[in-house]
Amino acid sequence: MISKATIDTVFETARVEEVIGDFVQLKRAGSNFKGLSPFSDERSPSFMVSPAKGIWKDFSSGKGGNAVAFLMEHSHFTYPEAIRYLAKKYNIEIEETEQTDAEKATMDARESMYLVSEFAKDYFHKTLLNTEEGKAIGFSYFKERGFTNETIKKFSLGYSPETWDALTKEALGKGYKLEFLESTGLTIPREDRPFDRFKGRVMFPIQSMSGRILGFGGRILTNDKKAAKYLNSPESEIYHKSKVLYGIFQAKQSIAKLNNCFLVEGYTDVIQFNQAGIENVVASSGTALTPDQIRLINRLTRNITVLFDGDAAGLRASIRGIDLILEEGMNVKVCAFPDGEDPDSFAKKTPYDDLVAYLETNAKDFIQFKASLLMDEAKNDPIKKADLIRDMVGSISKIPDRIQREVYIQECSRIMDISEQVLISTLAQLIQKDIAEVAKKQKQEQKPFQVHRNQNPANTGYSGGDPEDPRTGPPEDYPGEPGYSSEPSEKVDVLYRLERKIIEILLLYGDKTEEFEDVLMKTNEDGEIVNVSQMKSYKVFQRIYLSLQEDEVELANPMFRGIFNDLINYYLQNEKFSLEHYLMQLPSEYAQEVTDILMEDERLVMHNWEGQNIFPKTKQETVAQNVSETILTMRWYLVGRIIEELKNSISPDQDNMESLMMIRDYNELTRAFSKKLGRVMSRF
Ligand code: CTP
Ligand code: MN
Repeated sequence: MISKATIDTVFETARVEEVIGDFVQLKRAGSNFKGLSPFSDERSPSFMVSPAKGIWKDFSSGKGGNAVAFLMEHSHFTYPEAIRYLAKKYNIEIEETEQTDAEKATMDARESMYLVSEFAKDYFHKTLLNTEEGKAIGFSYFKERGFTNETIKKFSLGYSPETWDALTKEALGKGYKLEFLESTGLTIPREDRPFDRFKGRVMFPIQSMSGRILGFGGRILTNDKKAAKYLNSPESEIYHKSKVLYGIFQAKQSIAKLNNCFLVEGYTDVIQFNQAGIENVVASSGTALTPDQIRLINRLTRNITVLFDGDAAGLRASIRGIDLILEEGMNVKVCAFPDGEDPDSFAKKTPYDDLVAYLETNAKDFIQFKASLLMDEAKNDPIKKADLIRDMVGSISKIPDRIQREVYIQECSRIMDISEQVLISTLAQLIQKDIAEVAKKQKQEQKPFQVHRNQNPANTGYSGGDPEDPRTGPPEDYPGEPGYSSEPSEKVDVLYRLERKIIEILLLYGDKTEEFEDVLMKTNEDGEIVNVSQMKSYKVFQRIYLSLQEDEVELANPMFRGIFNDLINYYLQNEKFSLEHYLMQLPSEYAQEVTDILMEDERLVMHNWEGQNIFPKTKQETVAQNVSETILTMRWYLVGRIIEELKNSISPDQDNMESLMMIRDYNELTRAFSKKLGRVMSRF
């Protein structure tokens, strides 16, 4: 295990902007950096890095965190992998500590799976090149397919001997545990004699973007119709079929450089293309592309060319999956090969220049391609043609960019010989339907405690279950973001925002010492009890903590409650607050929210409010004022809730005296709060 000291050094040394700068082009923007989001496809930058806070935030996807979180998100590193990567980048020597057995077991399960997979890859490769059986059967097979030694090496192709436990035995002998041979699927468990999954097959190791061995495909060499041609590693902790692309490790640089990615179906298609000199190619391994796979490509390029085998049936089936690629905002071209050819066979017999020329001339824009293909079928059949129009418009509706959609409408109108108007109205219907569905989904996910501002107050639905809540939201000049006030019907969740505000203050100013007004009860000369106010120094976090204690209030939102407790503990245990250090030890379930809160002000900069003459509210004049206002507003809100509950408890057939008295007292309190806040907070 990496020692705590090493981890600390890594965090102290790593500069978030330098780490991210290796992957994303960053431009200075004031005290921050901004760039295009590496997680989504976009033209105007919404990715923000704050060197001062040591964090980043992607406003398009909502992701964010520190340098380590970036590496985990972007490069799919595990936590230790990210630390090791940074240590290497900054030349920090890694100090390893002894682990307990339990630690070893949990921490290393994945690592052990990677190691045994790496071992198996080497074993299969050596067996192919150096053993009699490997040379006679496996190597000669690859030669027959036209693979050169260089290609075999580049893809670490291998051979698994025709013995039932060759790999298992070798690995166990080298000290690898049966447990991991089994969890990676290399070995199939059986009580008395566990055996090799890939016996007698040629092997194609499947690598991650960074080159780690995740799994294998094994091809059978006989023409046995009953046995599967390819056998693949089962899903495991390290191998998720839907998230890998065969060849991505070898292809990634070329894809980025050429700004295009060829997508094929099979392992051998990828390999043959590489050998032919075209490296920007990956395979989906025989299934339709998944969103995860598309995103893998999307990080490297927005352009994808799907290569089809030359048979019509396959073509039609493949076309269905392509809407998914459009949905991710990618530009899709398709290219079919002559009848009976697949990319492998075609590349094998075609010289490089001709191959490139073929791809260039035959790659067609997907939408145009689909329209012409389907038009051929539907030409004289009006019913079919109506289906076709819906189908085409369905594809176009998946394209996120409005201008691009318009261009396609024009194209389709021409190809299908139908008026643009019809296409546009069909498109409008489809998009409206989509929006309705999204809205419905959002409604189902609504949080409790929502209050409608300036709207029919009939559905506040907070947990007290009060359908008549007449409150209209926070005070007019509630210290919030300008974005919220732009829409009159925007739902404002008062308590949610107050609690979030409290977390924000704790994060930014918790450690500061400020003067706060304390109100004490004293007896004056005449023996009367009077309120005396007095200024006293508190740390901000203490003030907040004590105030909430005094009110016996816990934050209602579980996430905020968790962060609140974590922060207070941190302040109590550490003499000095360092944001960097705090973020480093922050439990990962809170990291997202905390980054969001910290980057809130950056979001305002991003939206360029200044440029539009809309200035975001500057932070309060003094921190103390900000704290007091927030707590007071929270009290005001909570008291309001109690008043409502009391009102509801009143019924004509009972003595309501006590409730009425309480309502009066609480109303008095509300007025006091309002007065203190220096404004009228009309609630009723
Ligand atoms: N595939 C699979 N299991 C099968 C058949 C196919 O996983 N039983 C996957 C493999 O990743 C294969 C891809 O689907 O590479 C495409 O299948 P196919 O075109 O049949 O294989 P080829 O790659 O063309 O293999 P070959 O040329 O060796 O027949
Ligand atoms: Mn093939």
